[in-house]
Amino acid sequence: KPVKLSEYRVADHVVKTVHLDIVLHPTATRVTAVLAVEPHPQGIAGAPLVFDGDGLTLAAIAIDGRTPAPEAYEATADRLVIHNPPAGPFRLTLETVVDPQANTQLMGLYRSSGTWCTQCEAEGFRRITYFPDRPDVLAVYTTRIEAEKKAAPVLLGNGNLVEAGDLPHGRHYAVWHDPHPKPSYLFALVGGDLAEVSDTFTTRSGRVVKLGIFVEHGKEDRCAYAMDALKRSMRWDEEAFGCEYDLDVFNIVAVSDFNMGAMENKGLNIFNDKYVLALPDTATDQDYAAIEAIIAHEYFHNWTGNRITCRDWFQLCLKEGLTVFRDQEFSGDMRSRAVKRIADVRLLKSHQFAEDAGPLSHPVRPEIYHEINNFYTATVYEKGAEIIRALKVLIGAEAFRRGMDLYLVRHDGDAATVEDFIACFAEASGRDLTQFFLWYRQSGTPQVAVATRHDPVAGTFTVDLKQTHLPTPGQDVKQPMVLPLAFGLIGPDGAERPLFTEDGKAVPGVIALDAAQKSVTFSGHPTRPVLSINRGFSAPIVLKTDLTAADLGFLARHDGDAYNRWQAIQTLATDHLVAASRKGAALAGGVDILADALAAVLADAGRDPAFAAQALTLPSESDIARELGAEVDPDAIHAARRALRLAIRSRLDGTLSDALSRFATPGPYSPDAAAAGRRALCNVALDLWASGGEADRLATVAARHRDADNMTDRFAALAVLAQHPGADREAALEAFRERYRADALILDKWLALQAAIPEAATLDRVKALLADPAFAMTNPNRLRALVGSFASGNQTQFNRPDGAGYAFLAEVVIATDPRNPQVAARLLSAFRSWRGLEAGRRTLARAALERVAATATLSADVRDIVARSLG
Ligand code: ARG
Ligand code: ZN
Repeated sequence: KPVKLSEYRVADHVVKTVHLDIVLHPTATRVTAVLAVEPHPQGIAGAPLVFDGDGLTLAAIAIDGRTPAPEAYEATADRLVIHNPPAGPFRLTLETVVDPQANTQLMGLYRSSGTWCTQCEAEGFRRITYFPDRPDVLAVYTTRIEAEKKAAPVLLGNGNLVEAGDLPHGRHYAVWHDPHPKPSYLFALVGGDLAEVSDTFTTRSGRVVKLGIFVEHGKEDRCAYAMDALKRSMRWDEEAFGCEYDLDVFNIVAVSDFNMGAMENKGLNIFNDKYVLALPDTATDQDYAAIEAIIAHEYFHNWTGNRITCRDWFQLCLKEGLTVFRDQEFSGDMRSRAVKRIADVRLLKSHQFAEDAGPLSHPVRPEIYHEINNFYTATVYEKGAEIIRALKVLIGAEAFRRGMDLYLVRHDGDAATVEDFIACFAEASGRDLTQFFLWYRQSGTPQVAVATRHDPVAGTFTVDLKQTHLPTPGQDVKQPMVLPLAFGLIGPDGAERPLFTEDGKAVPGVIALDAAQKSVTFSGHPTRPVLSINRGFSAPIVLKTDLTAADLGFLARHDGDAYNRWQAIQTLATDHLVAASRKGAALAGGVDILADALAAVLADAGRDPAFAAQALTLPSESDIARELGAEVDPDAIHAARRALRLAIRSRLDGTLSDALSRFATPGPYSPDAAAAGRRALCNVALDLWASGGEADRLATVAARHRDADNMTDRFAALAVLAQHPGADREAALEAFRERYRADALILDKWLALQAAIPEAATLDRVKALLADPAFAMTNPNRLRALVGSFASGNQTQFNRPDGAGYAFLAEVVIATDPRNPQVAARLLSAFRSWRGLEAGRRTLARAALERVAATATLSADVRDIVARSLG
């Protein structure tokens, strides 16, 4: 039943060309596939042909035009077997009929608001026709799509449009041909009544590419930012990685029912409309940034994913980690690089570190899976990207670029492995990367302890480093890894000190910690420098240093590395909050040093307001829960964080209200990074300024909410109001809902905000919202907005001491599973940290998981998550 990396072998039969004829119908879409099949030269000679299926019924079959005898083959819902297939190449014709309307899993061919669309990654193509549905079978696809012209005036496929025309009875057709061999998971088609926004892009070698974004009629004016982001992505990939687009068309379709963010189908990306549509009045700055990043991500897959794909699904990080790394670099170039890095590390720690510290921990390249859909995780994506960033620090930017160039040339057209990828960097850098490869094989977050010694007489400064690795599921003992730690030493004057070893040799600013322990001594330090280590978060580790609160306050002001300036402040806040959560705020120190550091950041905020906003954003409640690790009491964490916010507010009060006017953004809204940074700072300041809930201040916030001319400020003010019970809040929520009554994406924000209110009444509010017309159990965005933000974004209420939050999530998961297993499994992973809870909650969380486990008919998706969670 489980799939194992060690058991990989080539397919016995491969497909070279695919001709699909698809006649769209709401409930009975006819799919005729003509496949050029041949035995794989390395496969088992004479093996039966075995193709994947999922919920299929075979209507017709022919081998080289002749219908085989009934006993010559066997077709079930999930498999087609031909017992004695021809020994050489042959033509296999298959006819299946599928029901897109009934497809609530949103995998394969389904309908979203009347539009026919597909999602084939990872294993959705087998829900359309029988096929060797695995990424190492590459074929050239030609797709003819036929439909009633009124229902689907737009017919889109992969590659280039080669033919289109009208048919009798109000019908029409289009033929698309994709010359680039690709695996079945990159197949896509769309049919529907959609509006098109078009543009062109000329590649550096002069190819004119027609760009199209297809959306619901009436939403055309919401596509401009996505189109601009697409053009910037195309240019950037040429400049940064030498990757040029390779078809005459690039289309994006936005649909409102989508399990994930978006999908990189060749020449026909399909997006969750949340990541396409934006106007100043509908989208926040964060939404704009997410659209930019995801448009880039899917576009960048054209090379890292499509031209070079994965041999098998264990290699998923080969395309996802690398493509996340590329989209992060793109956003870093488009925006403040330091702030982008900080935002990425925040996300990494809150999602990936949490995942890696619990029962769902797995290596970036897993070796076994029961359900591949459950491996589209923060570990594969975000840690996968971190590994590549760490590799770049380790071997240097030039060797890294040579390695990338080599990879893109050597493996173009391949279904490759992580070994293939790393080999390119080993070759380009002349280094043995065997130890580095452990990053892909060992799960868990490495822990590094740093201690320093100063000898004023000898003028030496010694850094003692130690790495440890906690056990994770299936991995009790681990090898020391190679951790590239970027660092610097800062003198008492705040200046960077030159780095010399004891024997006077200049050293680079990176220590490769490649053994369990290592000490490095620097000379020329008659006075004690302050160590700034893991600059830019060069290695994705948990770091414990012996820096004092005073050192951290010093780094917050003087570190030349902006990331570490931010980290110093976070560490001060984290240390305080961890202590306060354990023994109460009164006994936890460090508030003055933290407040002084924040005051200094605010004083200097004009340099990069977005950075100041990040500095003023305290670690989240789940960050503190993760730091505590065991015996977590979410109420104590919430109280500690609230007390710290009030303490900071009382020390910075005047500065905060100053910031509100100093960083106002006059003039019409623009989503650019500089303006967004100013708004971010104002809105964090506003939140702190009003944290005491005084009536006059809330009235100011309510006025800002009413008068805002853009969604960022309007929603930020609403989020502040939502934290404070009372008539203002309810009135503002009601007005917001009325104003955006017809806009599902905006009402998602409204749902999410209410689900995150840290009050005992929230669970009842969430349950009542399940019946609200703004909510729909069948739409993944709605479910994530309401139930997802309750379970993952509301620490105190999901973790209610009476267990009602857990019971609620279990119910929703059980109810969702028969309809959409992927989304149900995703929701269930909110339990990923349950073992770290204090005993009472732990018992209740386990009971809820066991209720799910005891449900009679669970999908493979939910069964896998629940089994590993309880494991
Ligand atoms: N490849 C897509 C992306 O990251 C995600 C597709 C995920 N699909 C799934 N069924 N899990 O860009
Ligand atoms: Zn991706």
